[in-house]
Amino acid sequence: MTYNLLKGKRGIIFGALNEKSIAWKTAERAYSEGARFVLTNTPAAIKMGSIDTLAQKCESTVIIADATNVEDLENLIIKGMEFIGGKFDFVLHSIGMSPNVRKGRTYDDLNYHYLHQTLDISAISFHKVLQSCRKLDAINDWGSVVALSYIAAQRTLYGYNDMADAKALLESIARSFGYIYGREKNIRINTVSQSPTMTTAGGGIMGFDKLYDFAERMAPLGNATADECADYIITLFSDLTRKVTMQNLYHDGGYSSMGMSLAAMSVYREGLEYSDVKEDKSKKQCPVKDCPNNG
Ligand SMILES: NC(=O)c1ccc[n+]([C@@H]2O[C@H](COP(=O)([O-])OP(=O)(O)OC[C@H]3O[C@@H](n4cnc5c(N)ncnc54)[C@H](O)[C@@H]3O)[C@@H](O)[C@H]2O)c1
Repeated sequence: MTYNLLKGKRGIIFGALNEKSIAWKTAERAYSEGARFVLTNTPAAIKMGSIDTLAQKCESTVIIADATNVEDLENLIIKGMEFIGGKFDFVLHSIGMSPNVRKGRTYDDLNYHYLHQTLDISAISFHKVLQSCRKLDAINDWGSVVALSYIAAQRTLYGYNDMADAKALLESIARSFGYIYGREKNIRINTVSQSPTMTTAGGGIMGFDKLYDFAERMAPLGNATADECADYIITLFSDLTRKVTMQNLYHDGGYSSMGMSLAAMSVYREGLEYSDVKEDKSKKQCPVKDCPNNG
């Protein structure tokens, strides 16, 4: 069902890699709600993924930009405004990557060069996008900016590694810039804290299938899918949420308010004791068969 919620609105969407991506789903939904937008990603992602197909489907265009590079961003914003014929009403930052996660470095053995890259790609890029847009006066009054976050910004989740630090910084940038852009131009900036979602970035997290299963058991409404996330983001881009700003908004089926659920407890009822799963420090191996921490 469509509601014309974004009729006449224009935007930029960062982070559509393939049809599993949250940004991909958001682009499809924004298009069906009447928006025009430009799509952007890195040269490697454009080559590896299928963003051109999405652009065709949505009567959009793809402008290459590495979101850590301010020159690229300025070029994207200028060319993007030319393409859509005006300033933007919405911006989606759906970007995340940790070289430490990719290379299997654990949080107590981080490579600091990689850590800088994680923070730059997954959080500081959000500041760069906002600052570049503001300098070029590229967002209309009452515009809306959304970035994707995860509850690891508030709580420690095994295996999420330095991405947790990046998400904490990302959420802080939303608040700090939200004040500036809000008081000047009524532009709102929020983060959406999404459930574990089966995407390329999600699948890269160690033990992701277990994390997904745990969240699914804990959340009374179950994990939110990428399509459902897109629906929620559309409401945040619409005029129906004009006074929501500087918030981290959980979109997680209720997971963030839970302590223990029946569905999660049932796993323990089946006989698995903590002593069976705690790390065997001498061997540095977890005794649970197929534990992602092993091998
Ligand atoms: N999948 C999950 O479980 C989950 C949960 C909560 C939040 N998120 C967040 O959602 C966002 C989107 O991730 P996704 O799950 O759709 O996965 P995805 O892999 O489809 O998207 C990540 C995107 O980041 C892009 N990217 C990486 N480096 C970049 C750079 N330097 N410049 C520009 N773009 C760059 C990638 O090319 C890719 O398109 C991320 O911020 C992620 O952390 C994901």
